[in-house]
Amino acid sequence: ESTQSSRKGSQAPTPPRSVVGIGNKVAKPDYSEAKIVVAMVGLPARGKSFLSNKLMRYLKWLEYDVEVFNVGQLRRARARQKAQQSGIKEDHTATYFSHENAEATKIRDQLATDSLEMLIQWLRKGGNVGIHDATNSTINRRSKISARVAQERGIEVIFLESVCNDPAVIAANVALKVSSGDPDYSGLPREEAKRDFLTRIRQYESVYETITEPHLSYLRITDVGNEVTLSHINGYLQSRIAFYLMNLHVKPRSIFFSRHGESQYNVLGRIGGDSPLSPRGEQYAKALPDLVRDNIGDAPLTVWTSTLQRTIQTAGGLNYTQLTWKSLDELDAGVCDGMTYEEIEQAYPEDFANRDEDKFNYRYRGGESYRDVVVRLEPVIMELERQENILIIGHQAILRCLYAYFHNLPQADLPYIKIPLHTVIKLTPKAYGCDEERYKVPINAVDTHRPKPKAAGLGLDAAPPPTARDYYGSKQ
Ligand code: F6P
Ligand code: PEP
Repeated sequence: ESTQSSRKGSQAPTPPRSVVGIGNKVAKPDYSEAKIVVAMVGLPARGKSFLSNKLMRYLKWLEYDVEVFNVGQLRRARARQKAQQSGIKEDHTATYFSHENAEATKIRDQLATDSLEMLIQWLRKGGNVGIHDATNSTINRRSKISARVAQERGIEVIFLESVCNDPAVIAANVALKVSSGDPDYSGLPREEAKRDFLTRIRQYESVYETITEPHLSYLRITDVGNEVTLSHINGYLQSRIAFYLMNLHVKPRSIFFSRHGESQYNVLGRIGGDSPLSPRGEQYAKALPDLVRDNIGDAPLTVWTSTLQRTIQTAGGLNYTQLTWKSLDELDAGVCDGMTYEEIEQAYPEDFANRDEDKFNYRYRGGESYRDVVVRLEPVIMELERQENILIIGHQAILRCLYAYFHNLPQADLPYIKIPLHTVIKLTPKAYGCDEERYKVPINAVDTHRPKPKAAGLGLDAAPPPTARDYYGSKQ
């Protein structure tokens, strides 16, 4: 069941303005007016940090400035400081988290307040989304947060409650906490740590109040992927956050990436185009079904390709449901489509240098930048979150963008990620981040990776820029 109510007199959500860049450099969209506090709510071991991190990864990929303010971390940092100054070591075992422990309750409330204060100051300095990662499990705590944020013009708060009724998921979260070297339990035997953590959870349960406050803007997620309740969600970014969280699930699955088999254009060193596979590319297409079957067995799988023939041809032997996505087409090189890097350097020397200078932002004349590609891939990311096992047969730039999302890689590194031909990359989402395996098929292919030239951006004194020959075409 999903319920949606909206604030009276609210305006239609407006997307951020985008700033027009100078020349072929496209500037970051203007997110300066987006300022939101996302306050987590939930018992310990209900996946609050998981949701905080996922949300951060998604919004950062979309270029929002996001930071998680974790109250537990602040508590430990303060306790360390105290111990250094006074030699007194604060006890953070379960009794510290009991509401009957008046002194500790006061300290904990202060920590939550201070952490919120740090978050608000950070938003004021230009941040967009500050995630308050704490339990915030009582009406009293939430009313303090909402009253404090109400004092700030232009900052809104939404509460994100994570409810988990599945004992197996809770047990897994507890196991993760006590086995992952969590600083709350360093030096304690695992069994003891587990006993203490379970007692801590019970302390919280005795005072926990699910969100019922009618005036709050909130999202309640029950058993990630099963049920979402929305109340008073409005505004562009808030709606976007809600939509993303509604699409998440935590079922085990893998996402496979492969570039198309080597194409005739790859062999010629030409970019873009819609050429068919080379003979070696055809061999790769033939080898792919066995590799996929060895990996996935009888589990269901859906194959996504672009609309370009080299990906469709590569998927030709795969006996699974297939879908073609226009959004998966390779980065559009505009007037440079079909040229070699060398030809581009000769015809558009300034553009060529500009691309090396800032490859993420550089937009080909009449074509796209990596930033444009990230924007067009957003619906693909959303659908990937909803789906289970997916194999994407894609292109170099496209797979770089998707890969950067799953591994939370910085924008500047994104256009240089190595996604070689004839290699299947398997990503398996885990609690935080993804596990990765790579399968290289023993069929040779050209290397289309062009490293960042060392001299780029260093000015006149730098070594002479390498020629296109240095970047491209080394045979494997
Ligand atoms: O060379 C293969 C290719 O997929 C081209 O079609 C595309 O323009 C290029 O890679 C993208 O890589 P880069 O951004 O490094 O030029
Ligand atoms: C914590 O201290 O680990 C914590 C989550 O704080 P609180 O429960 O007070 O929000």
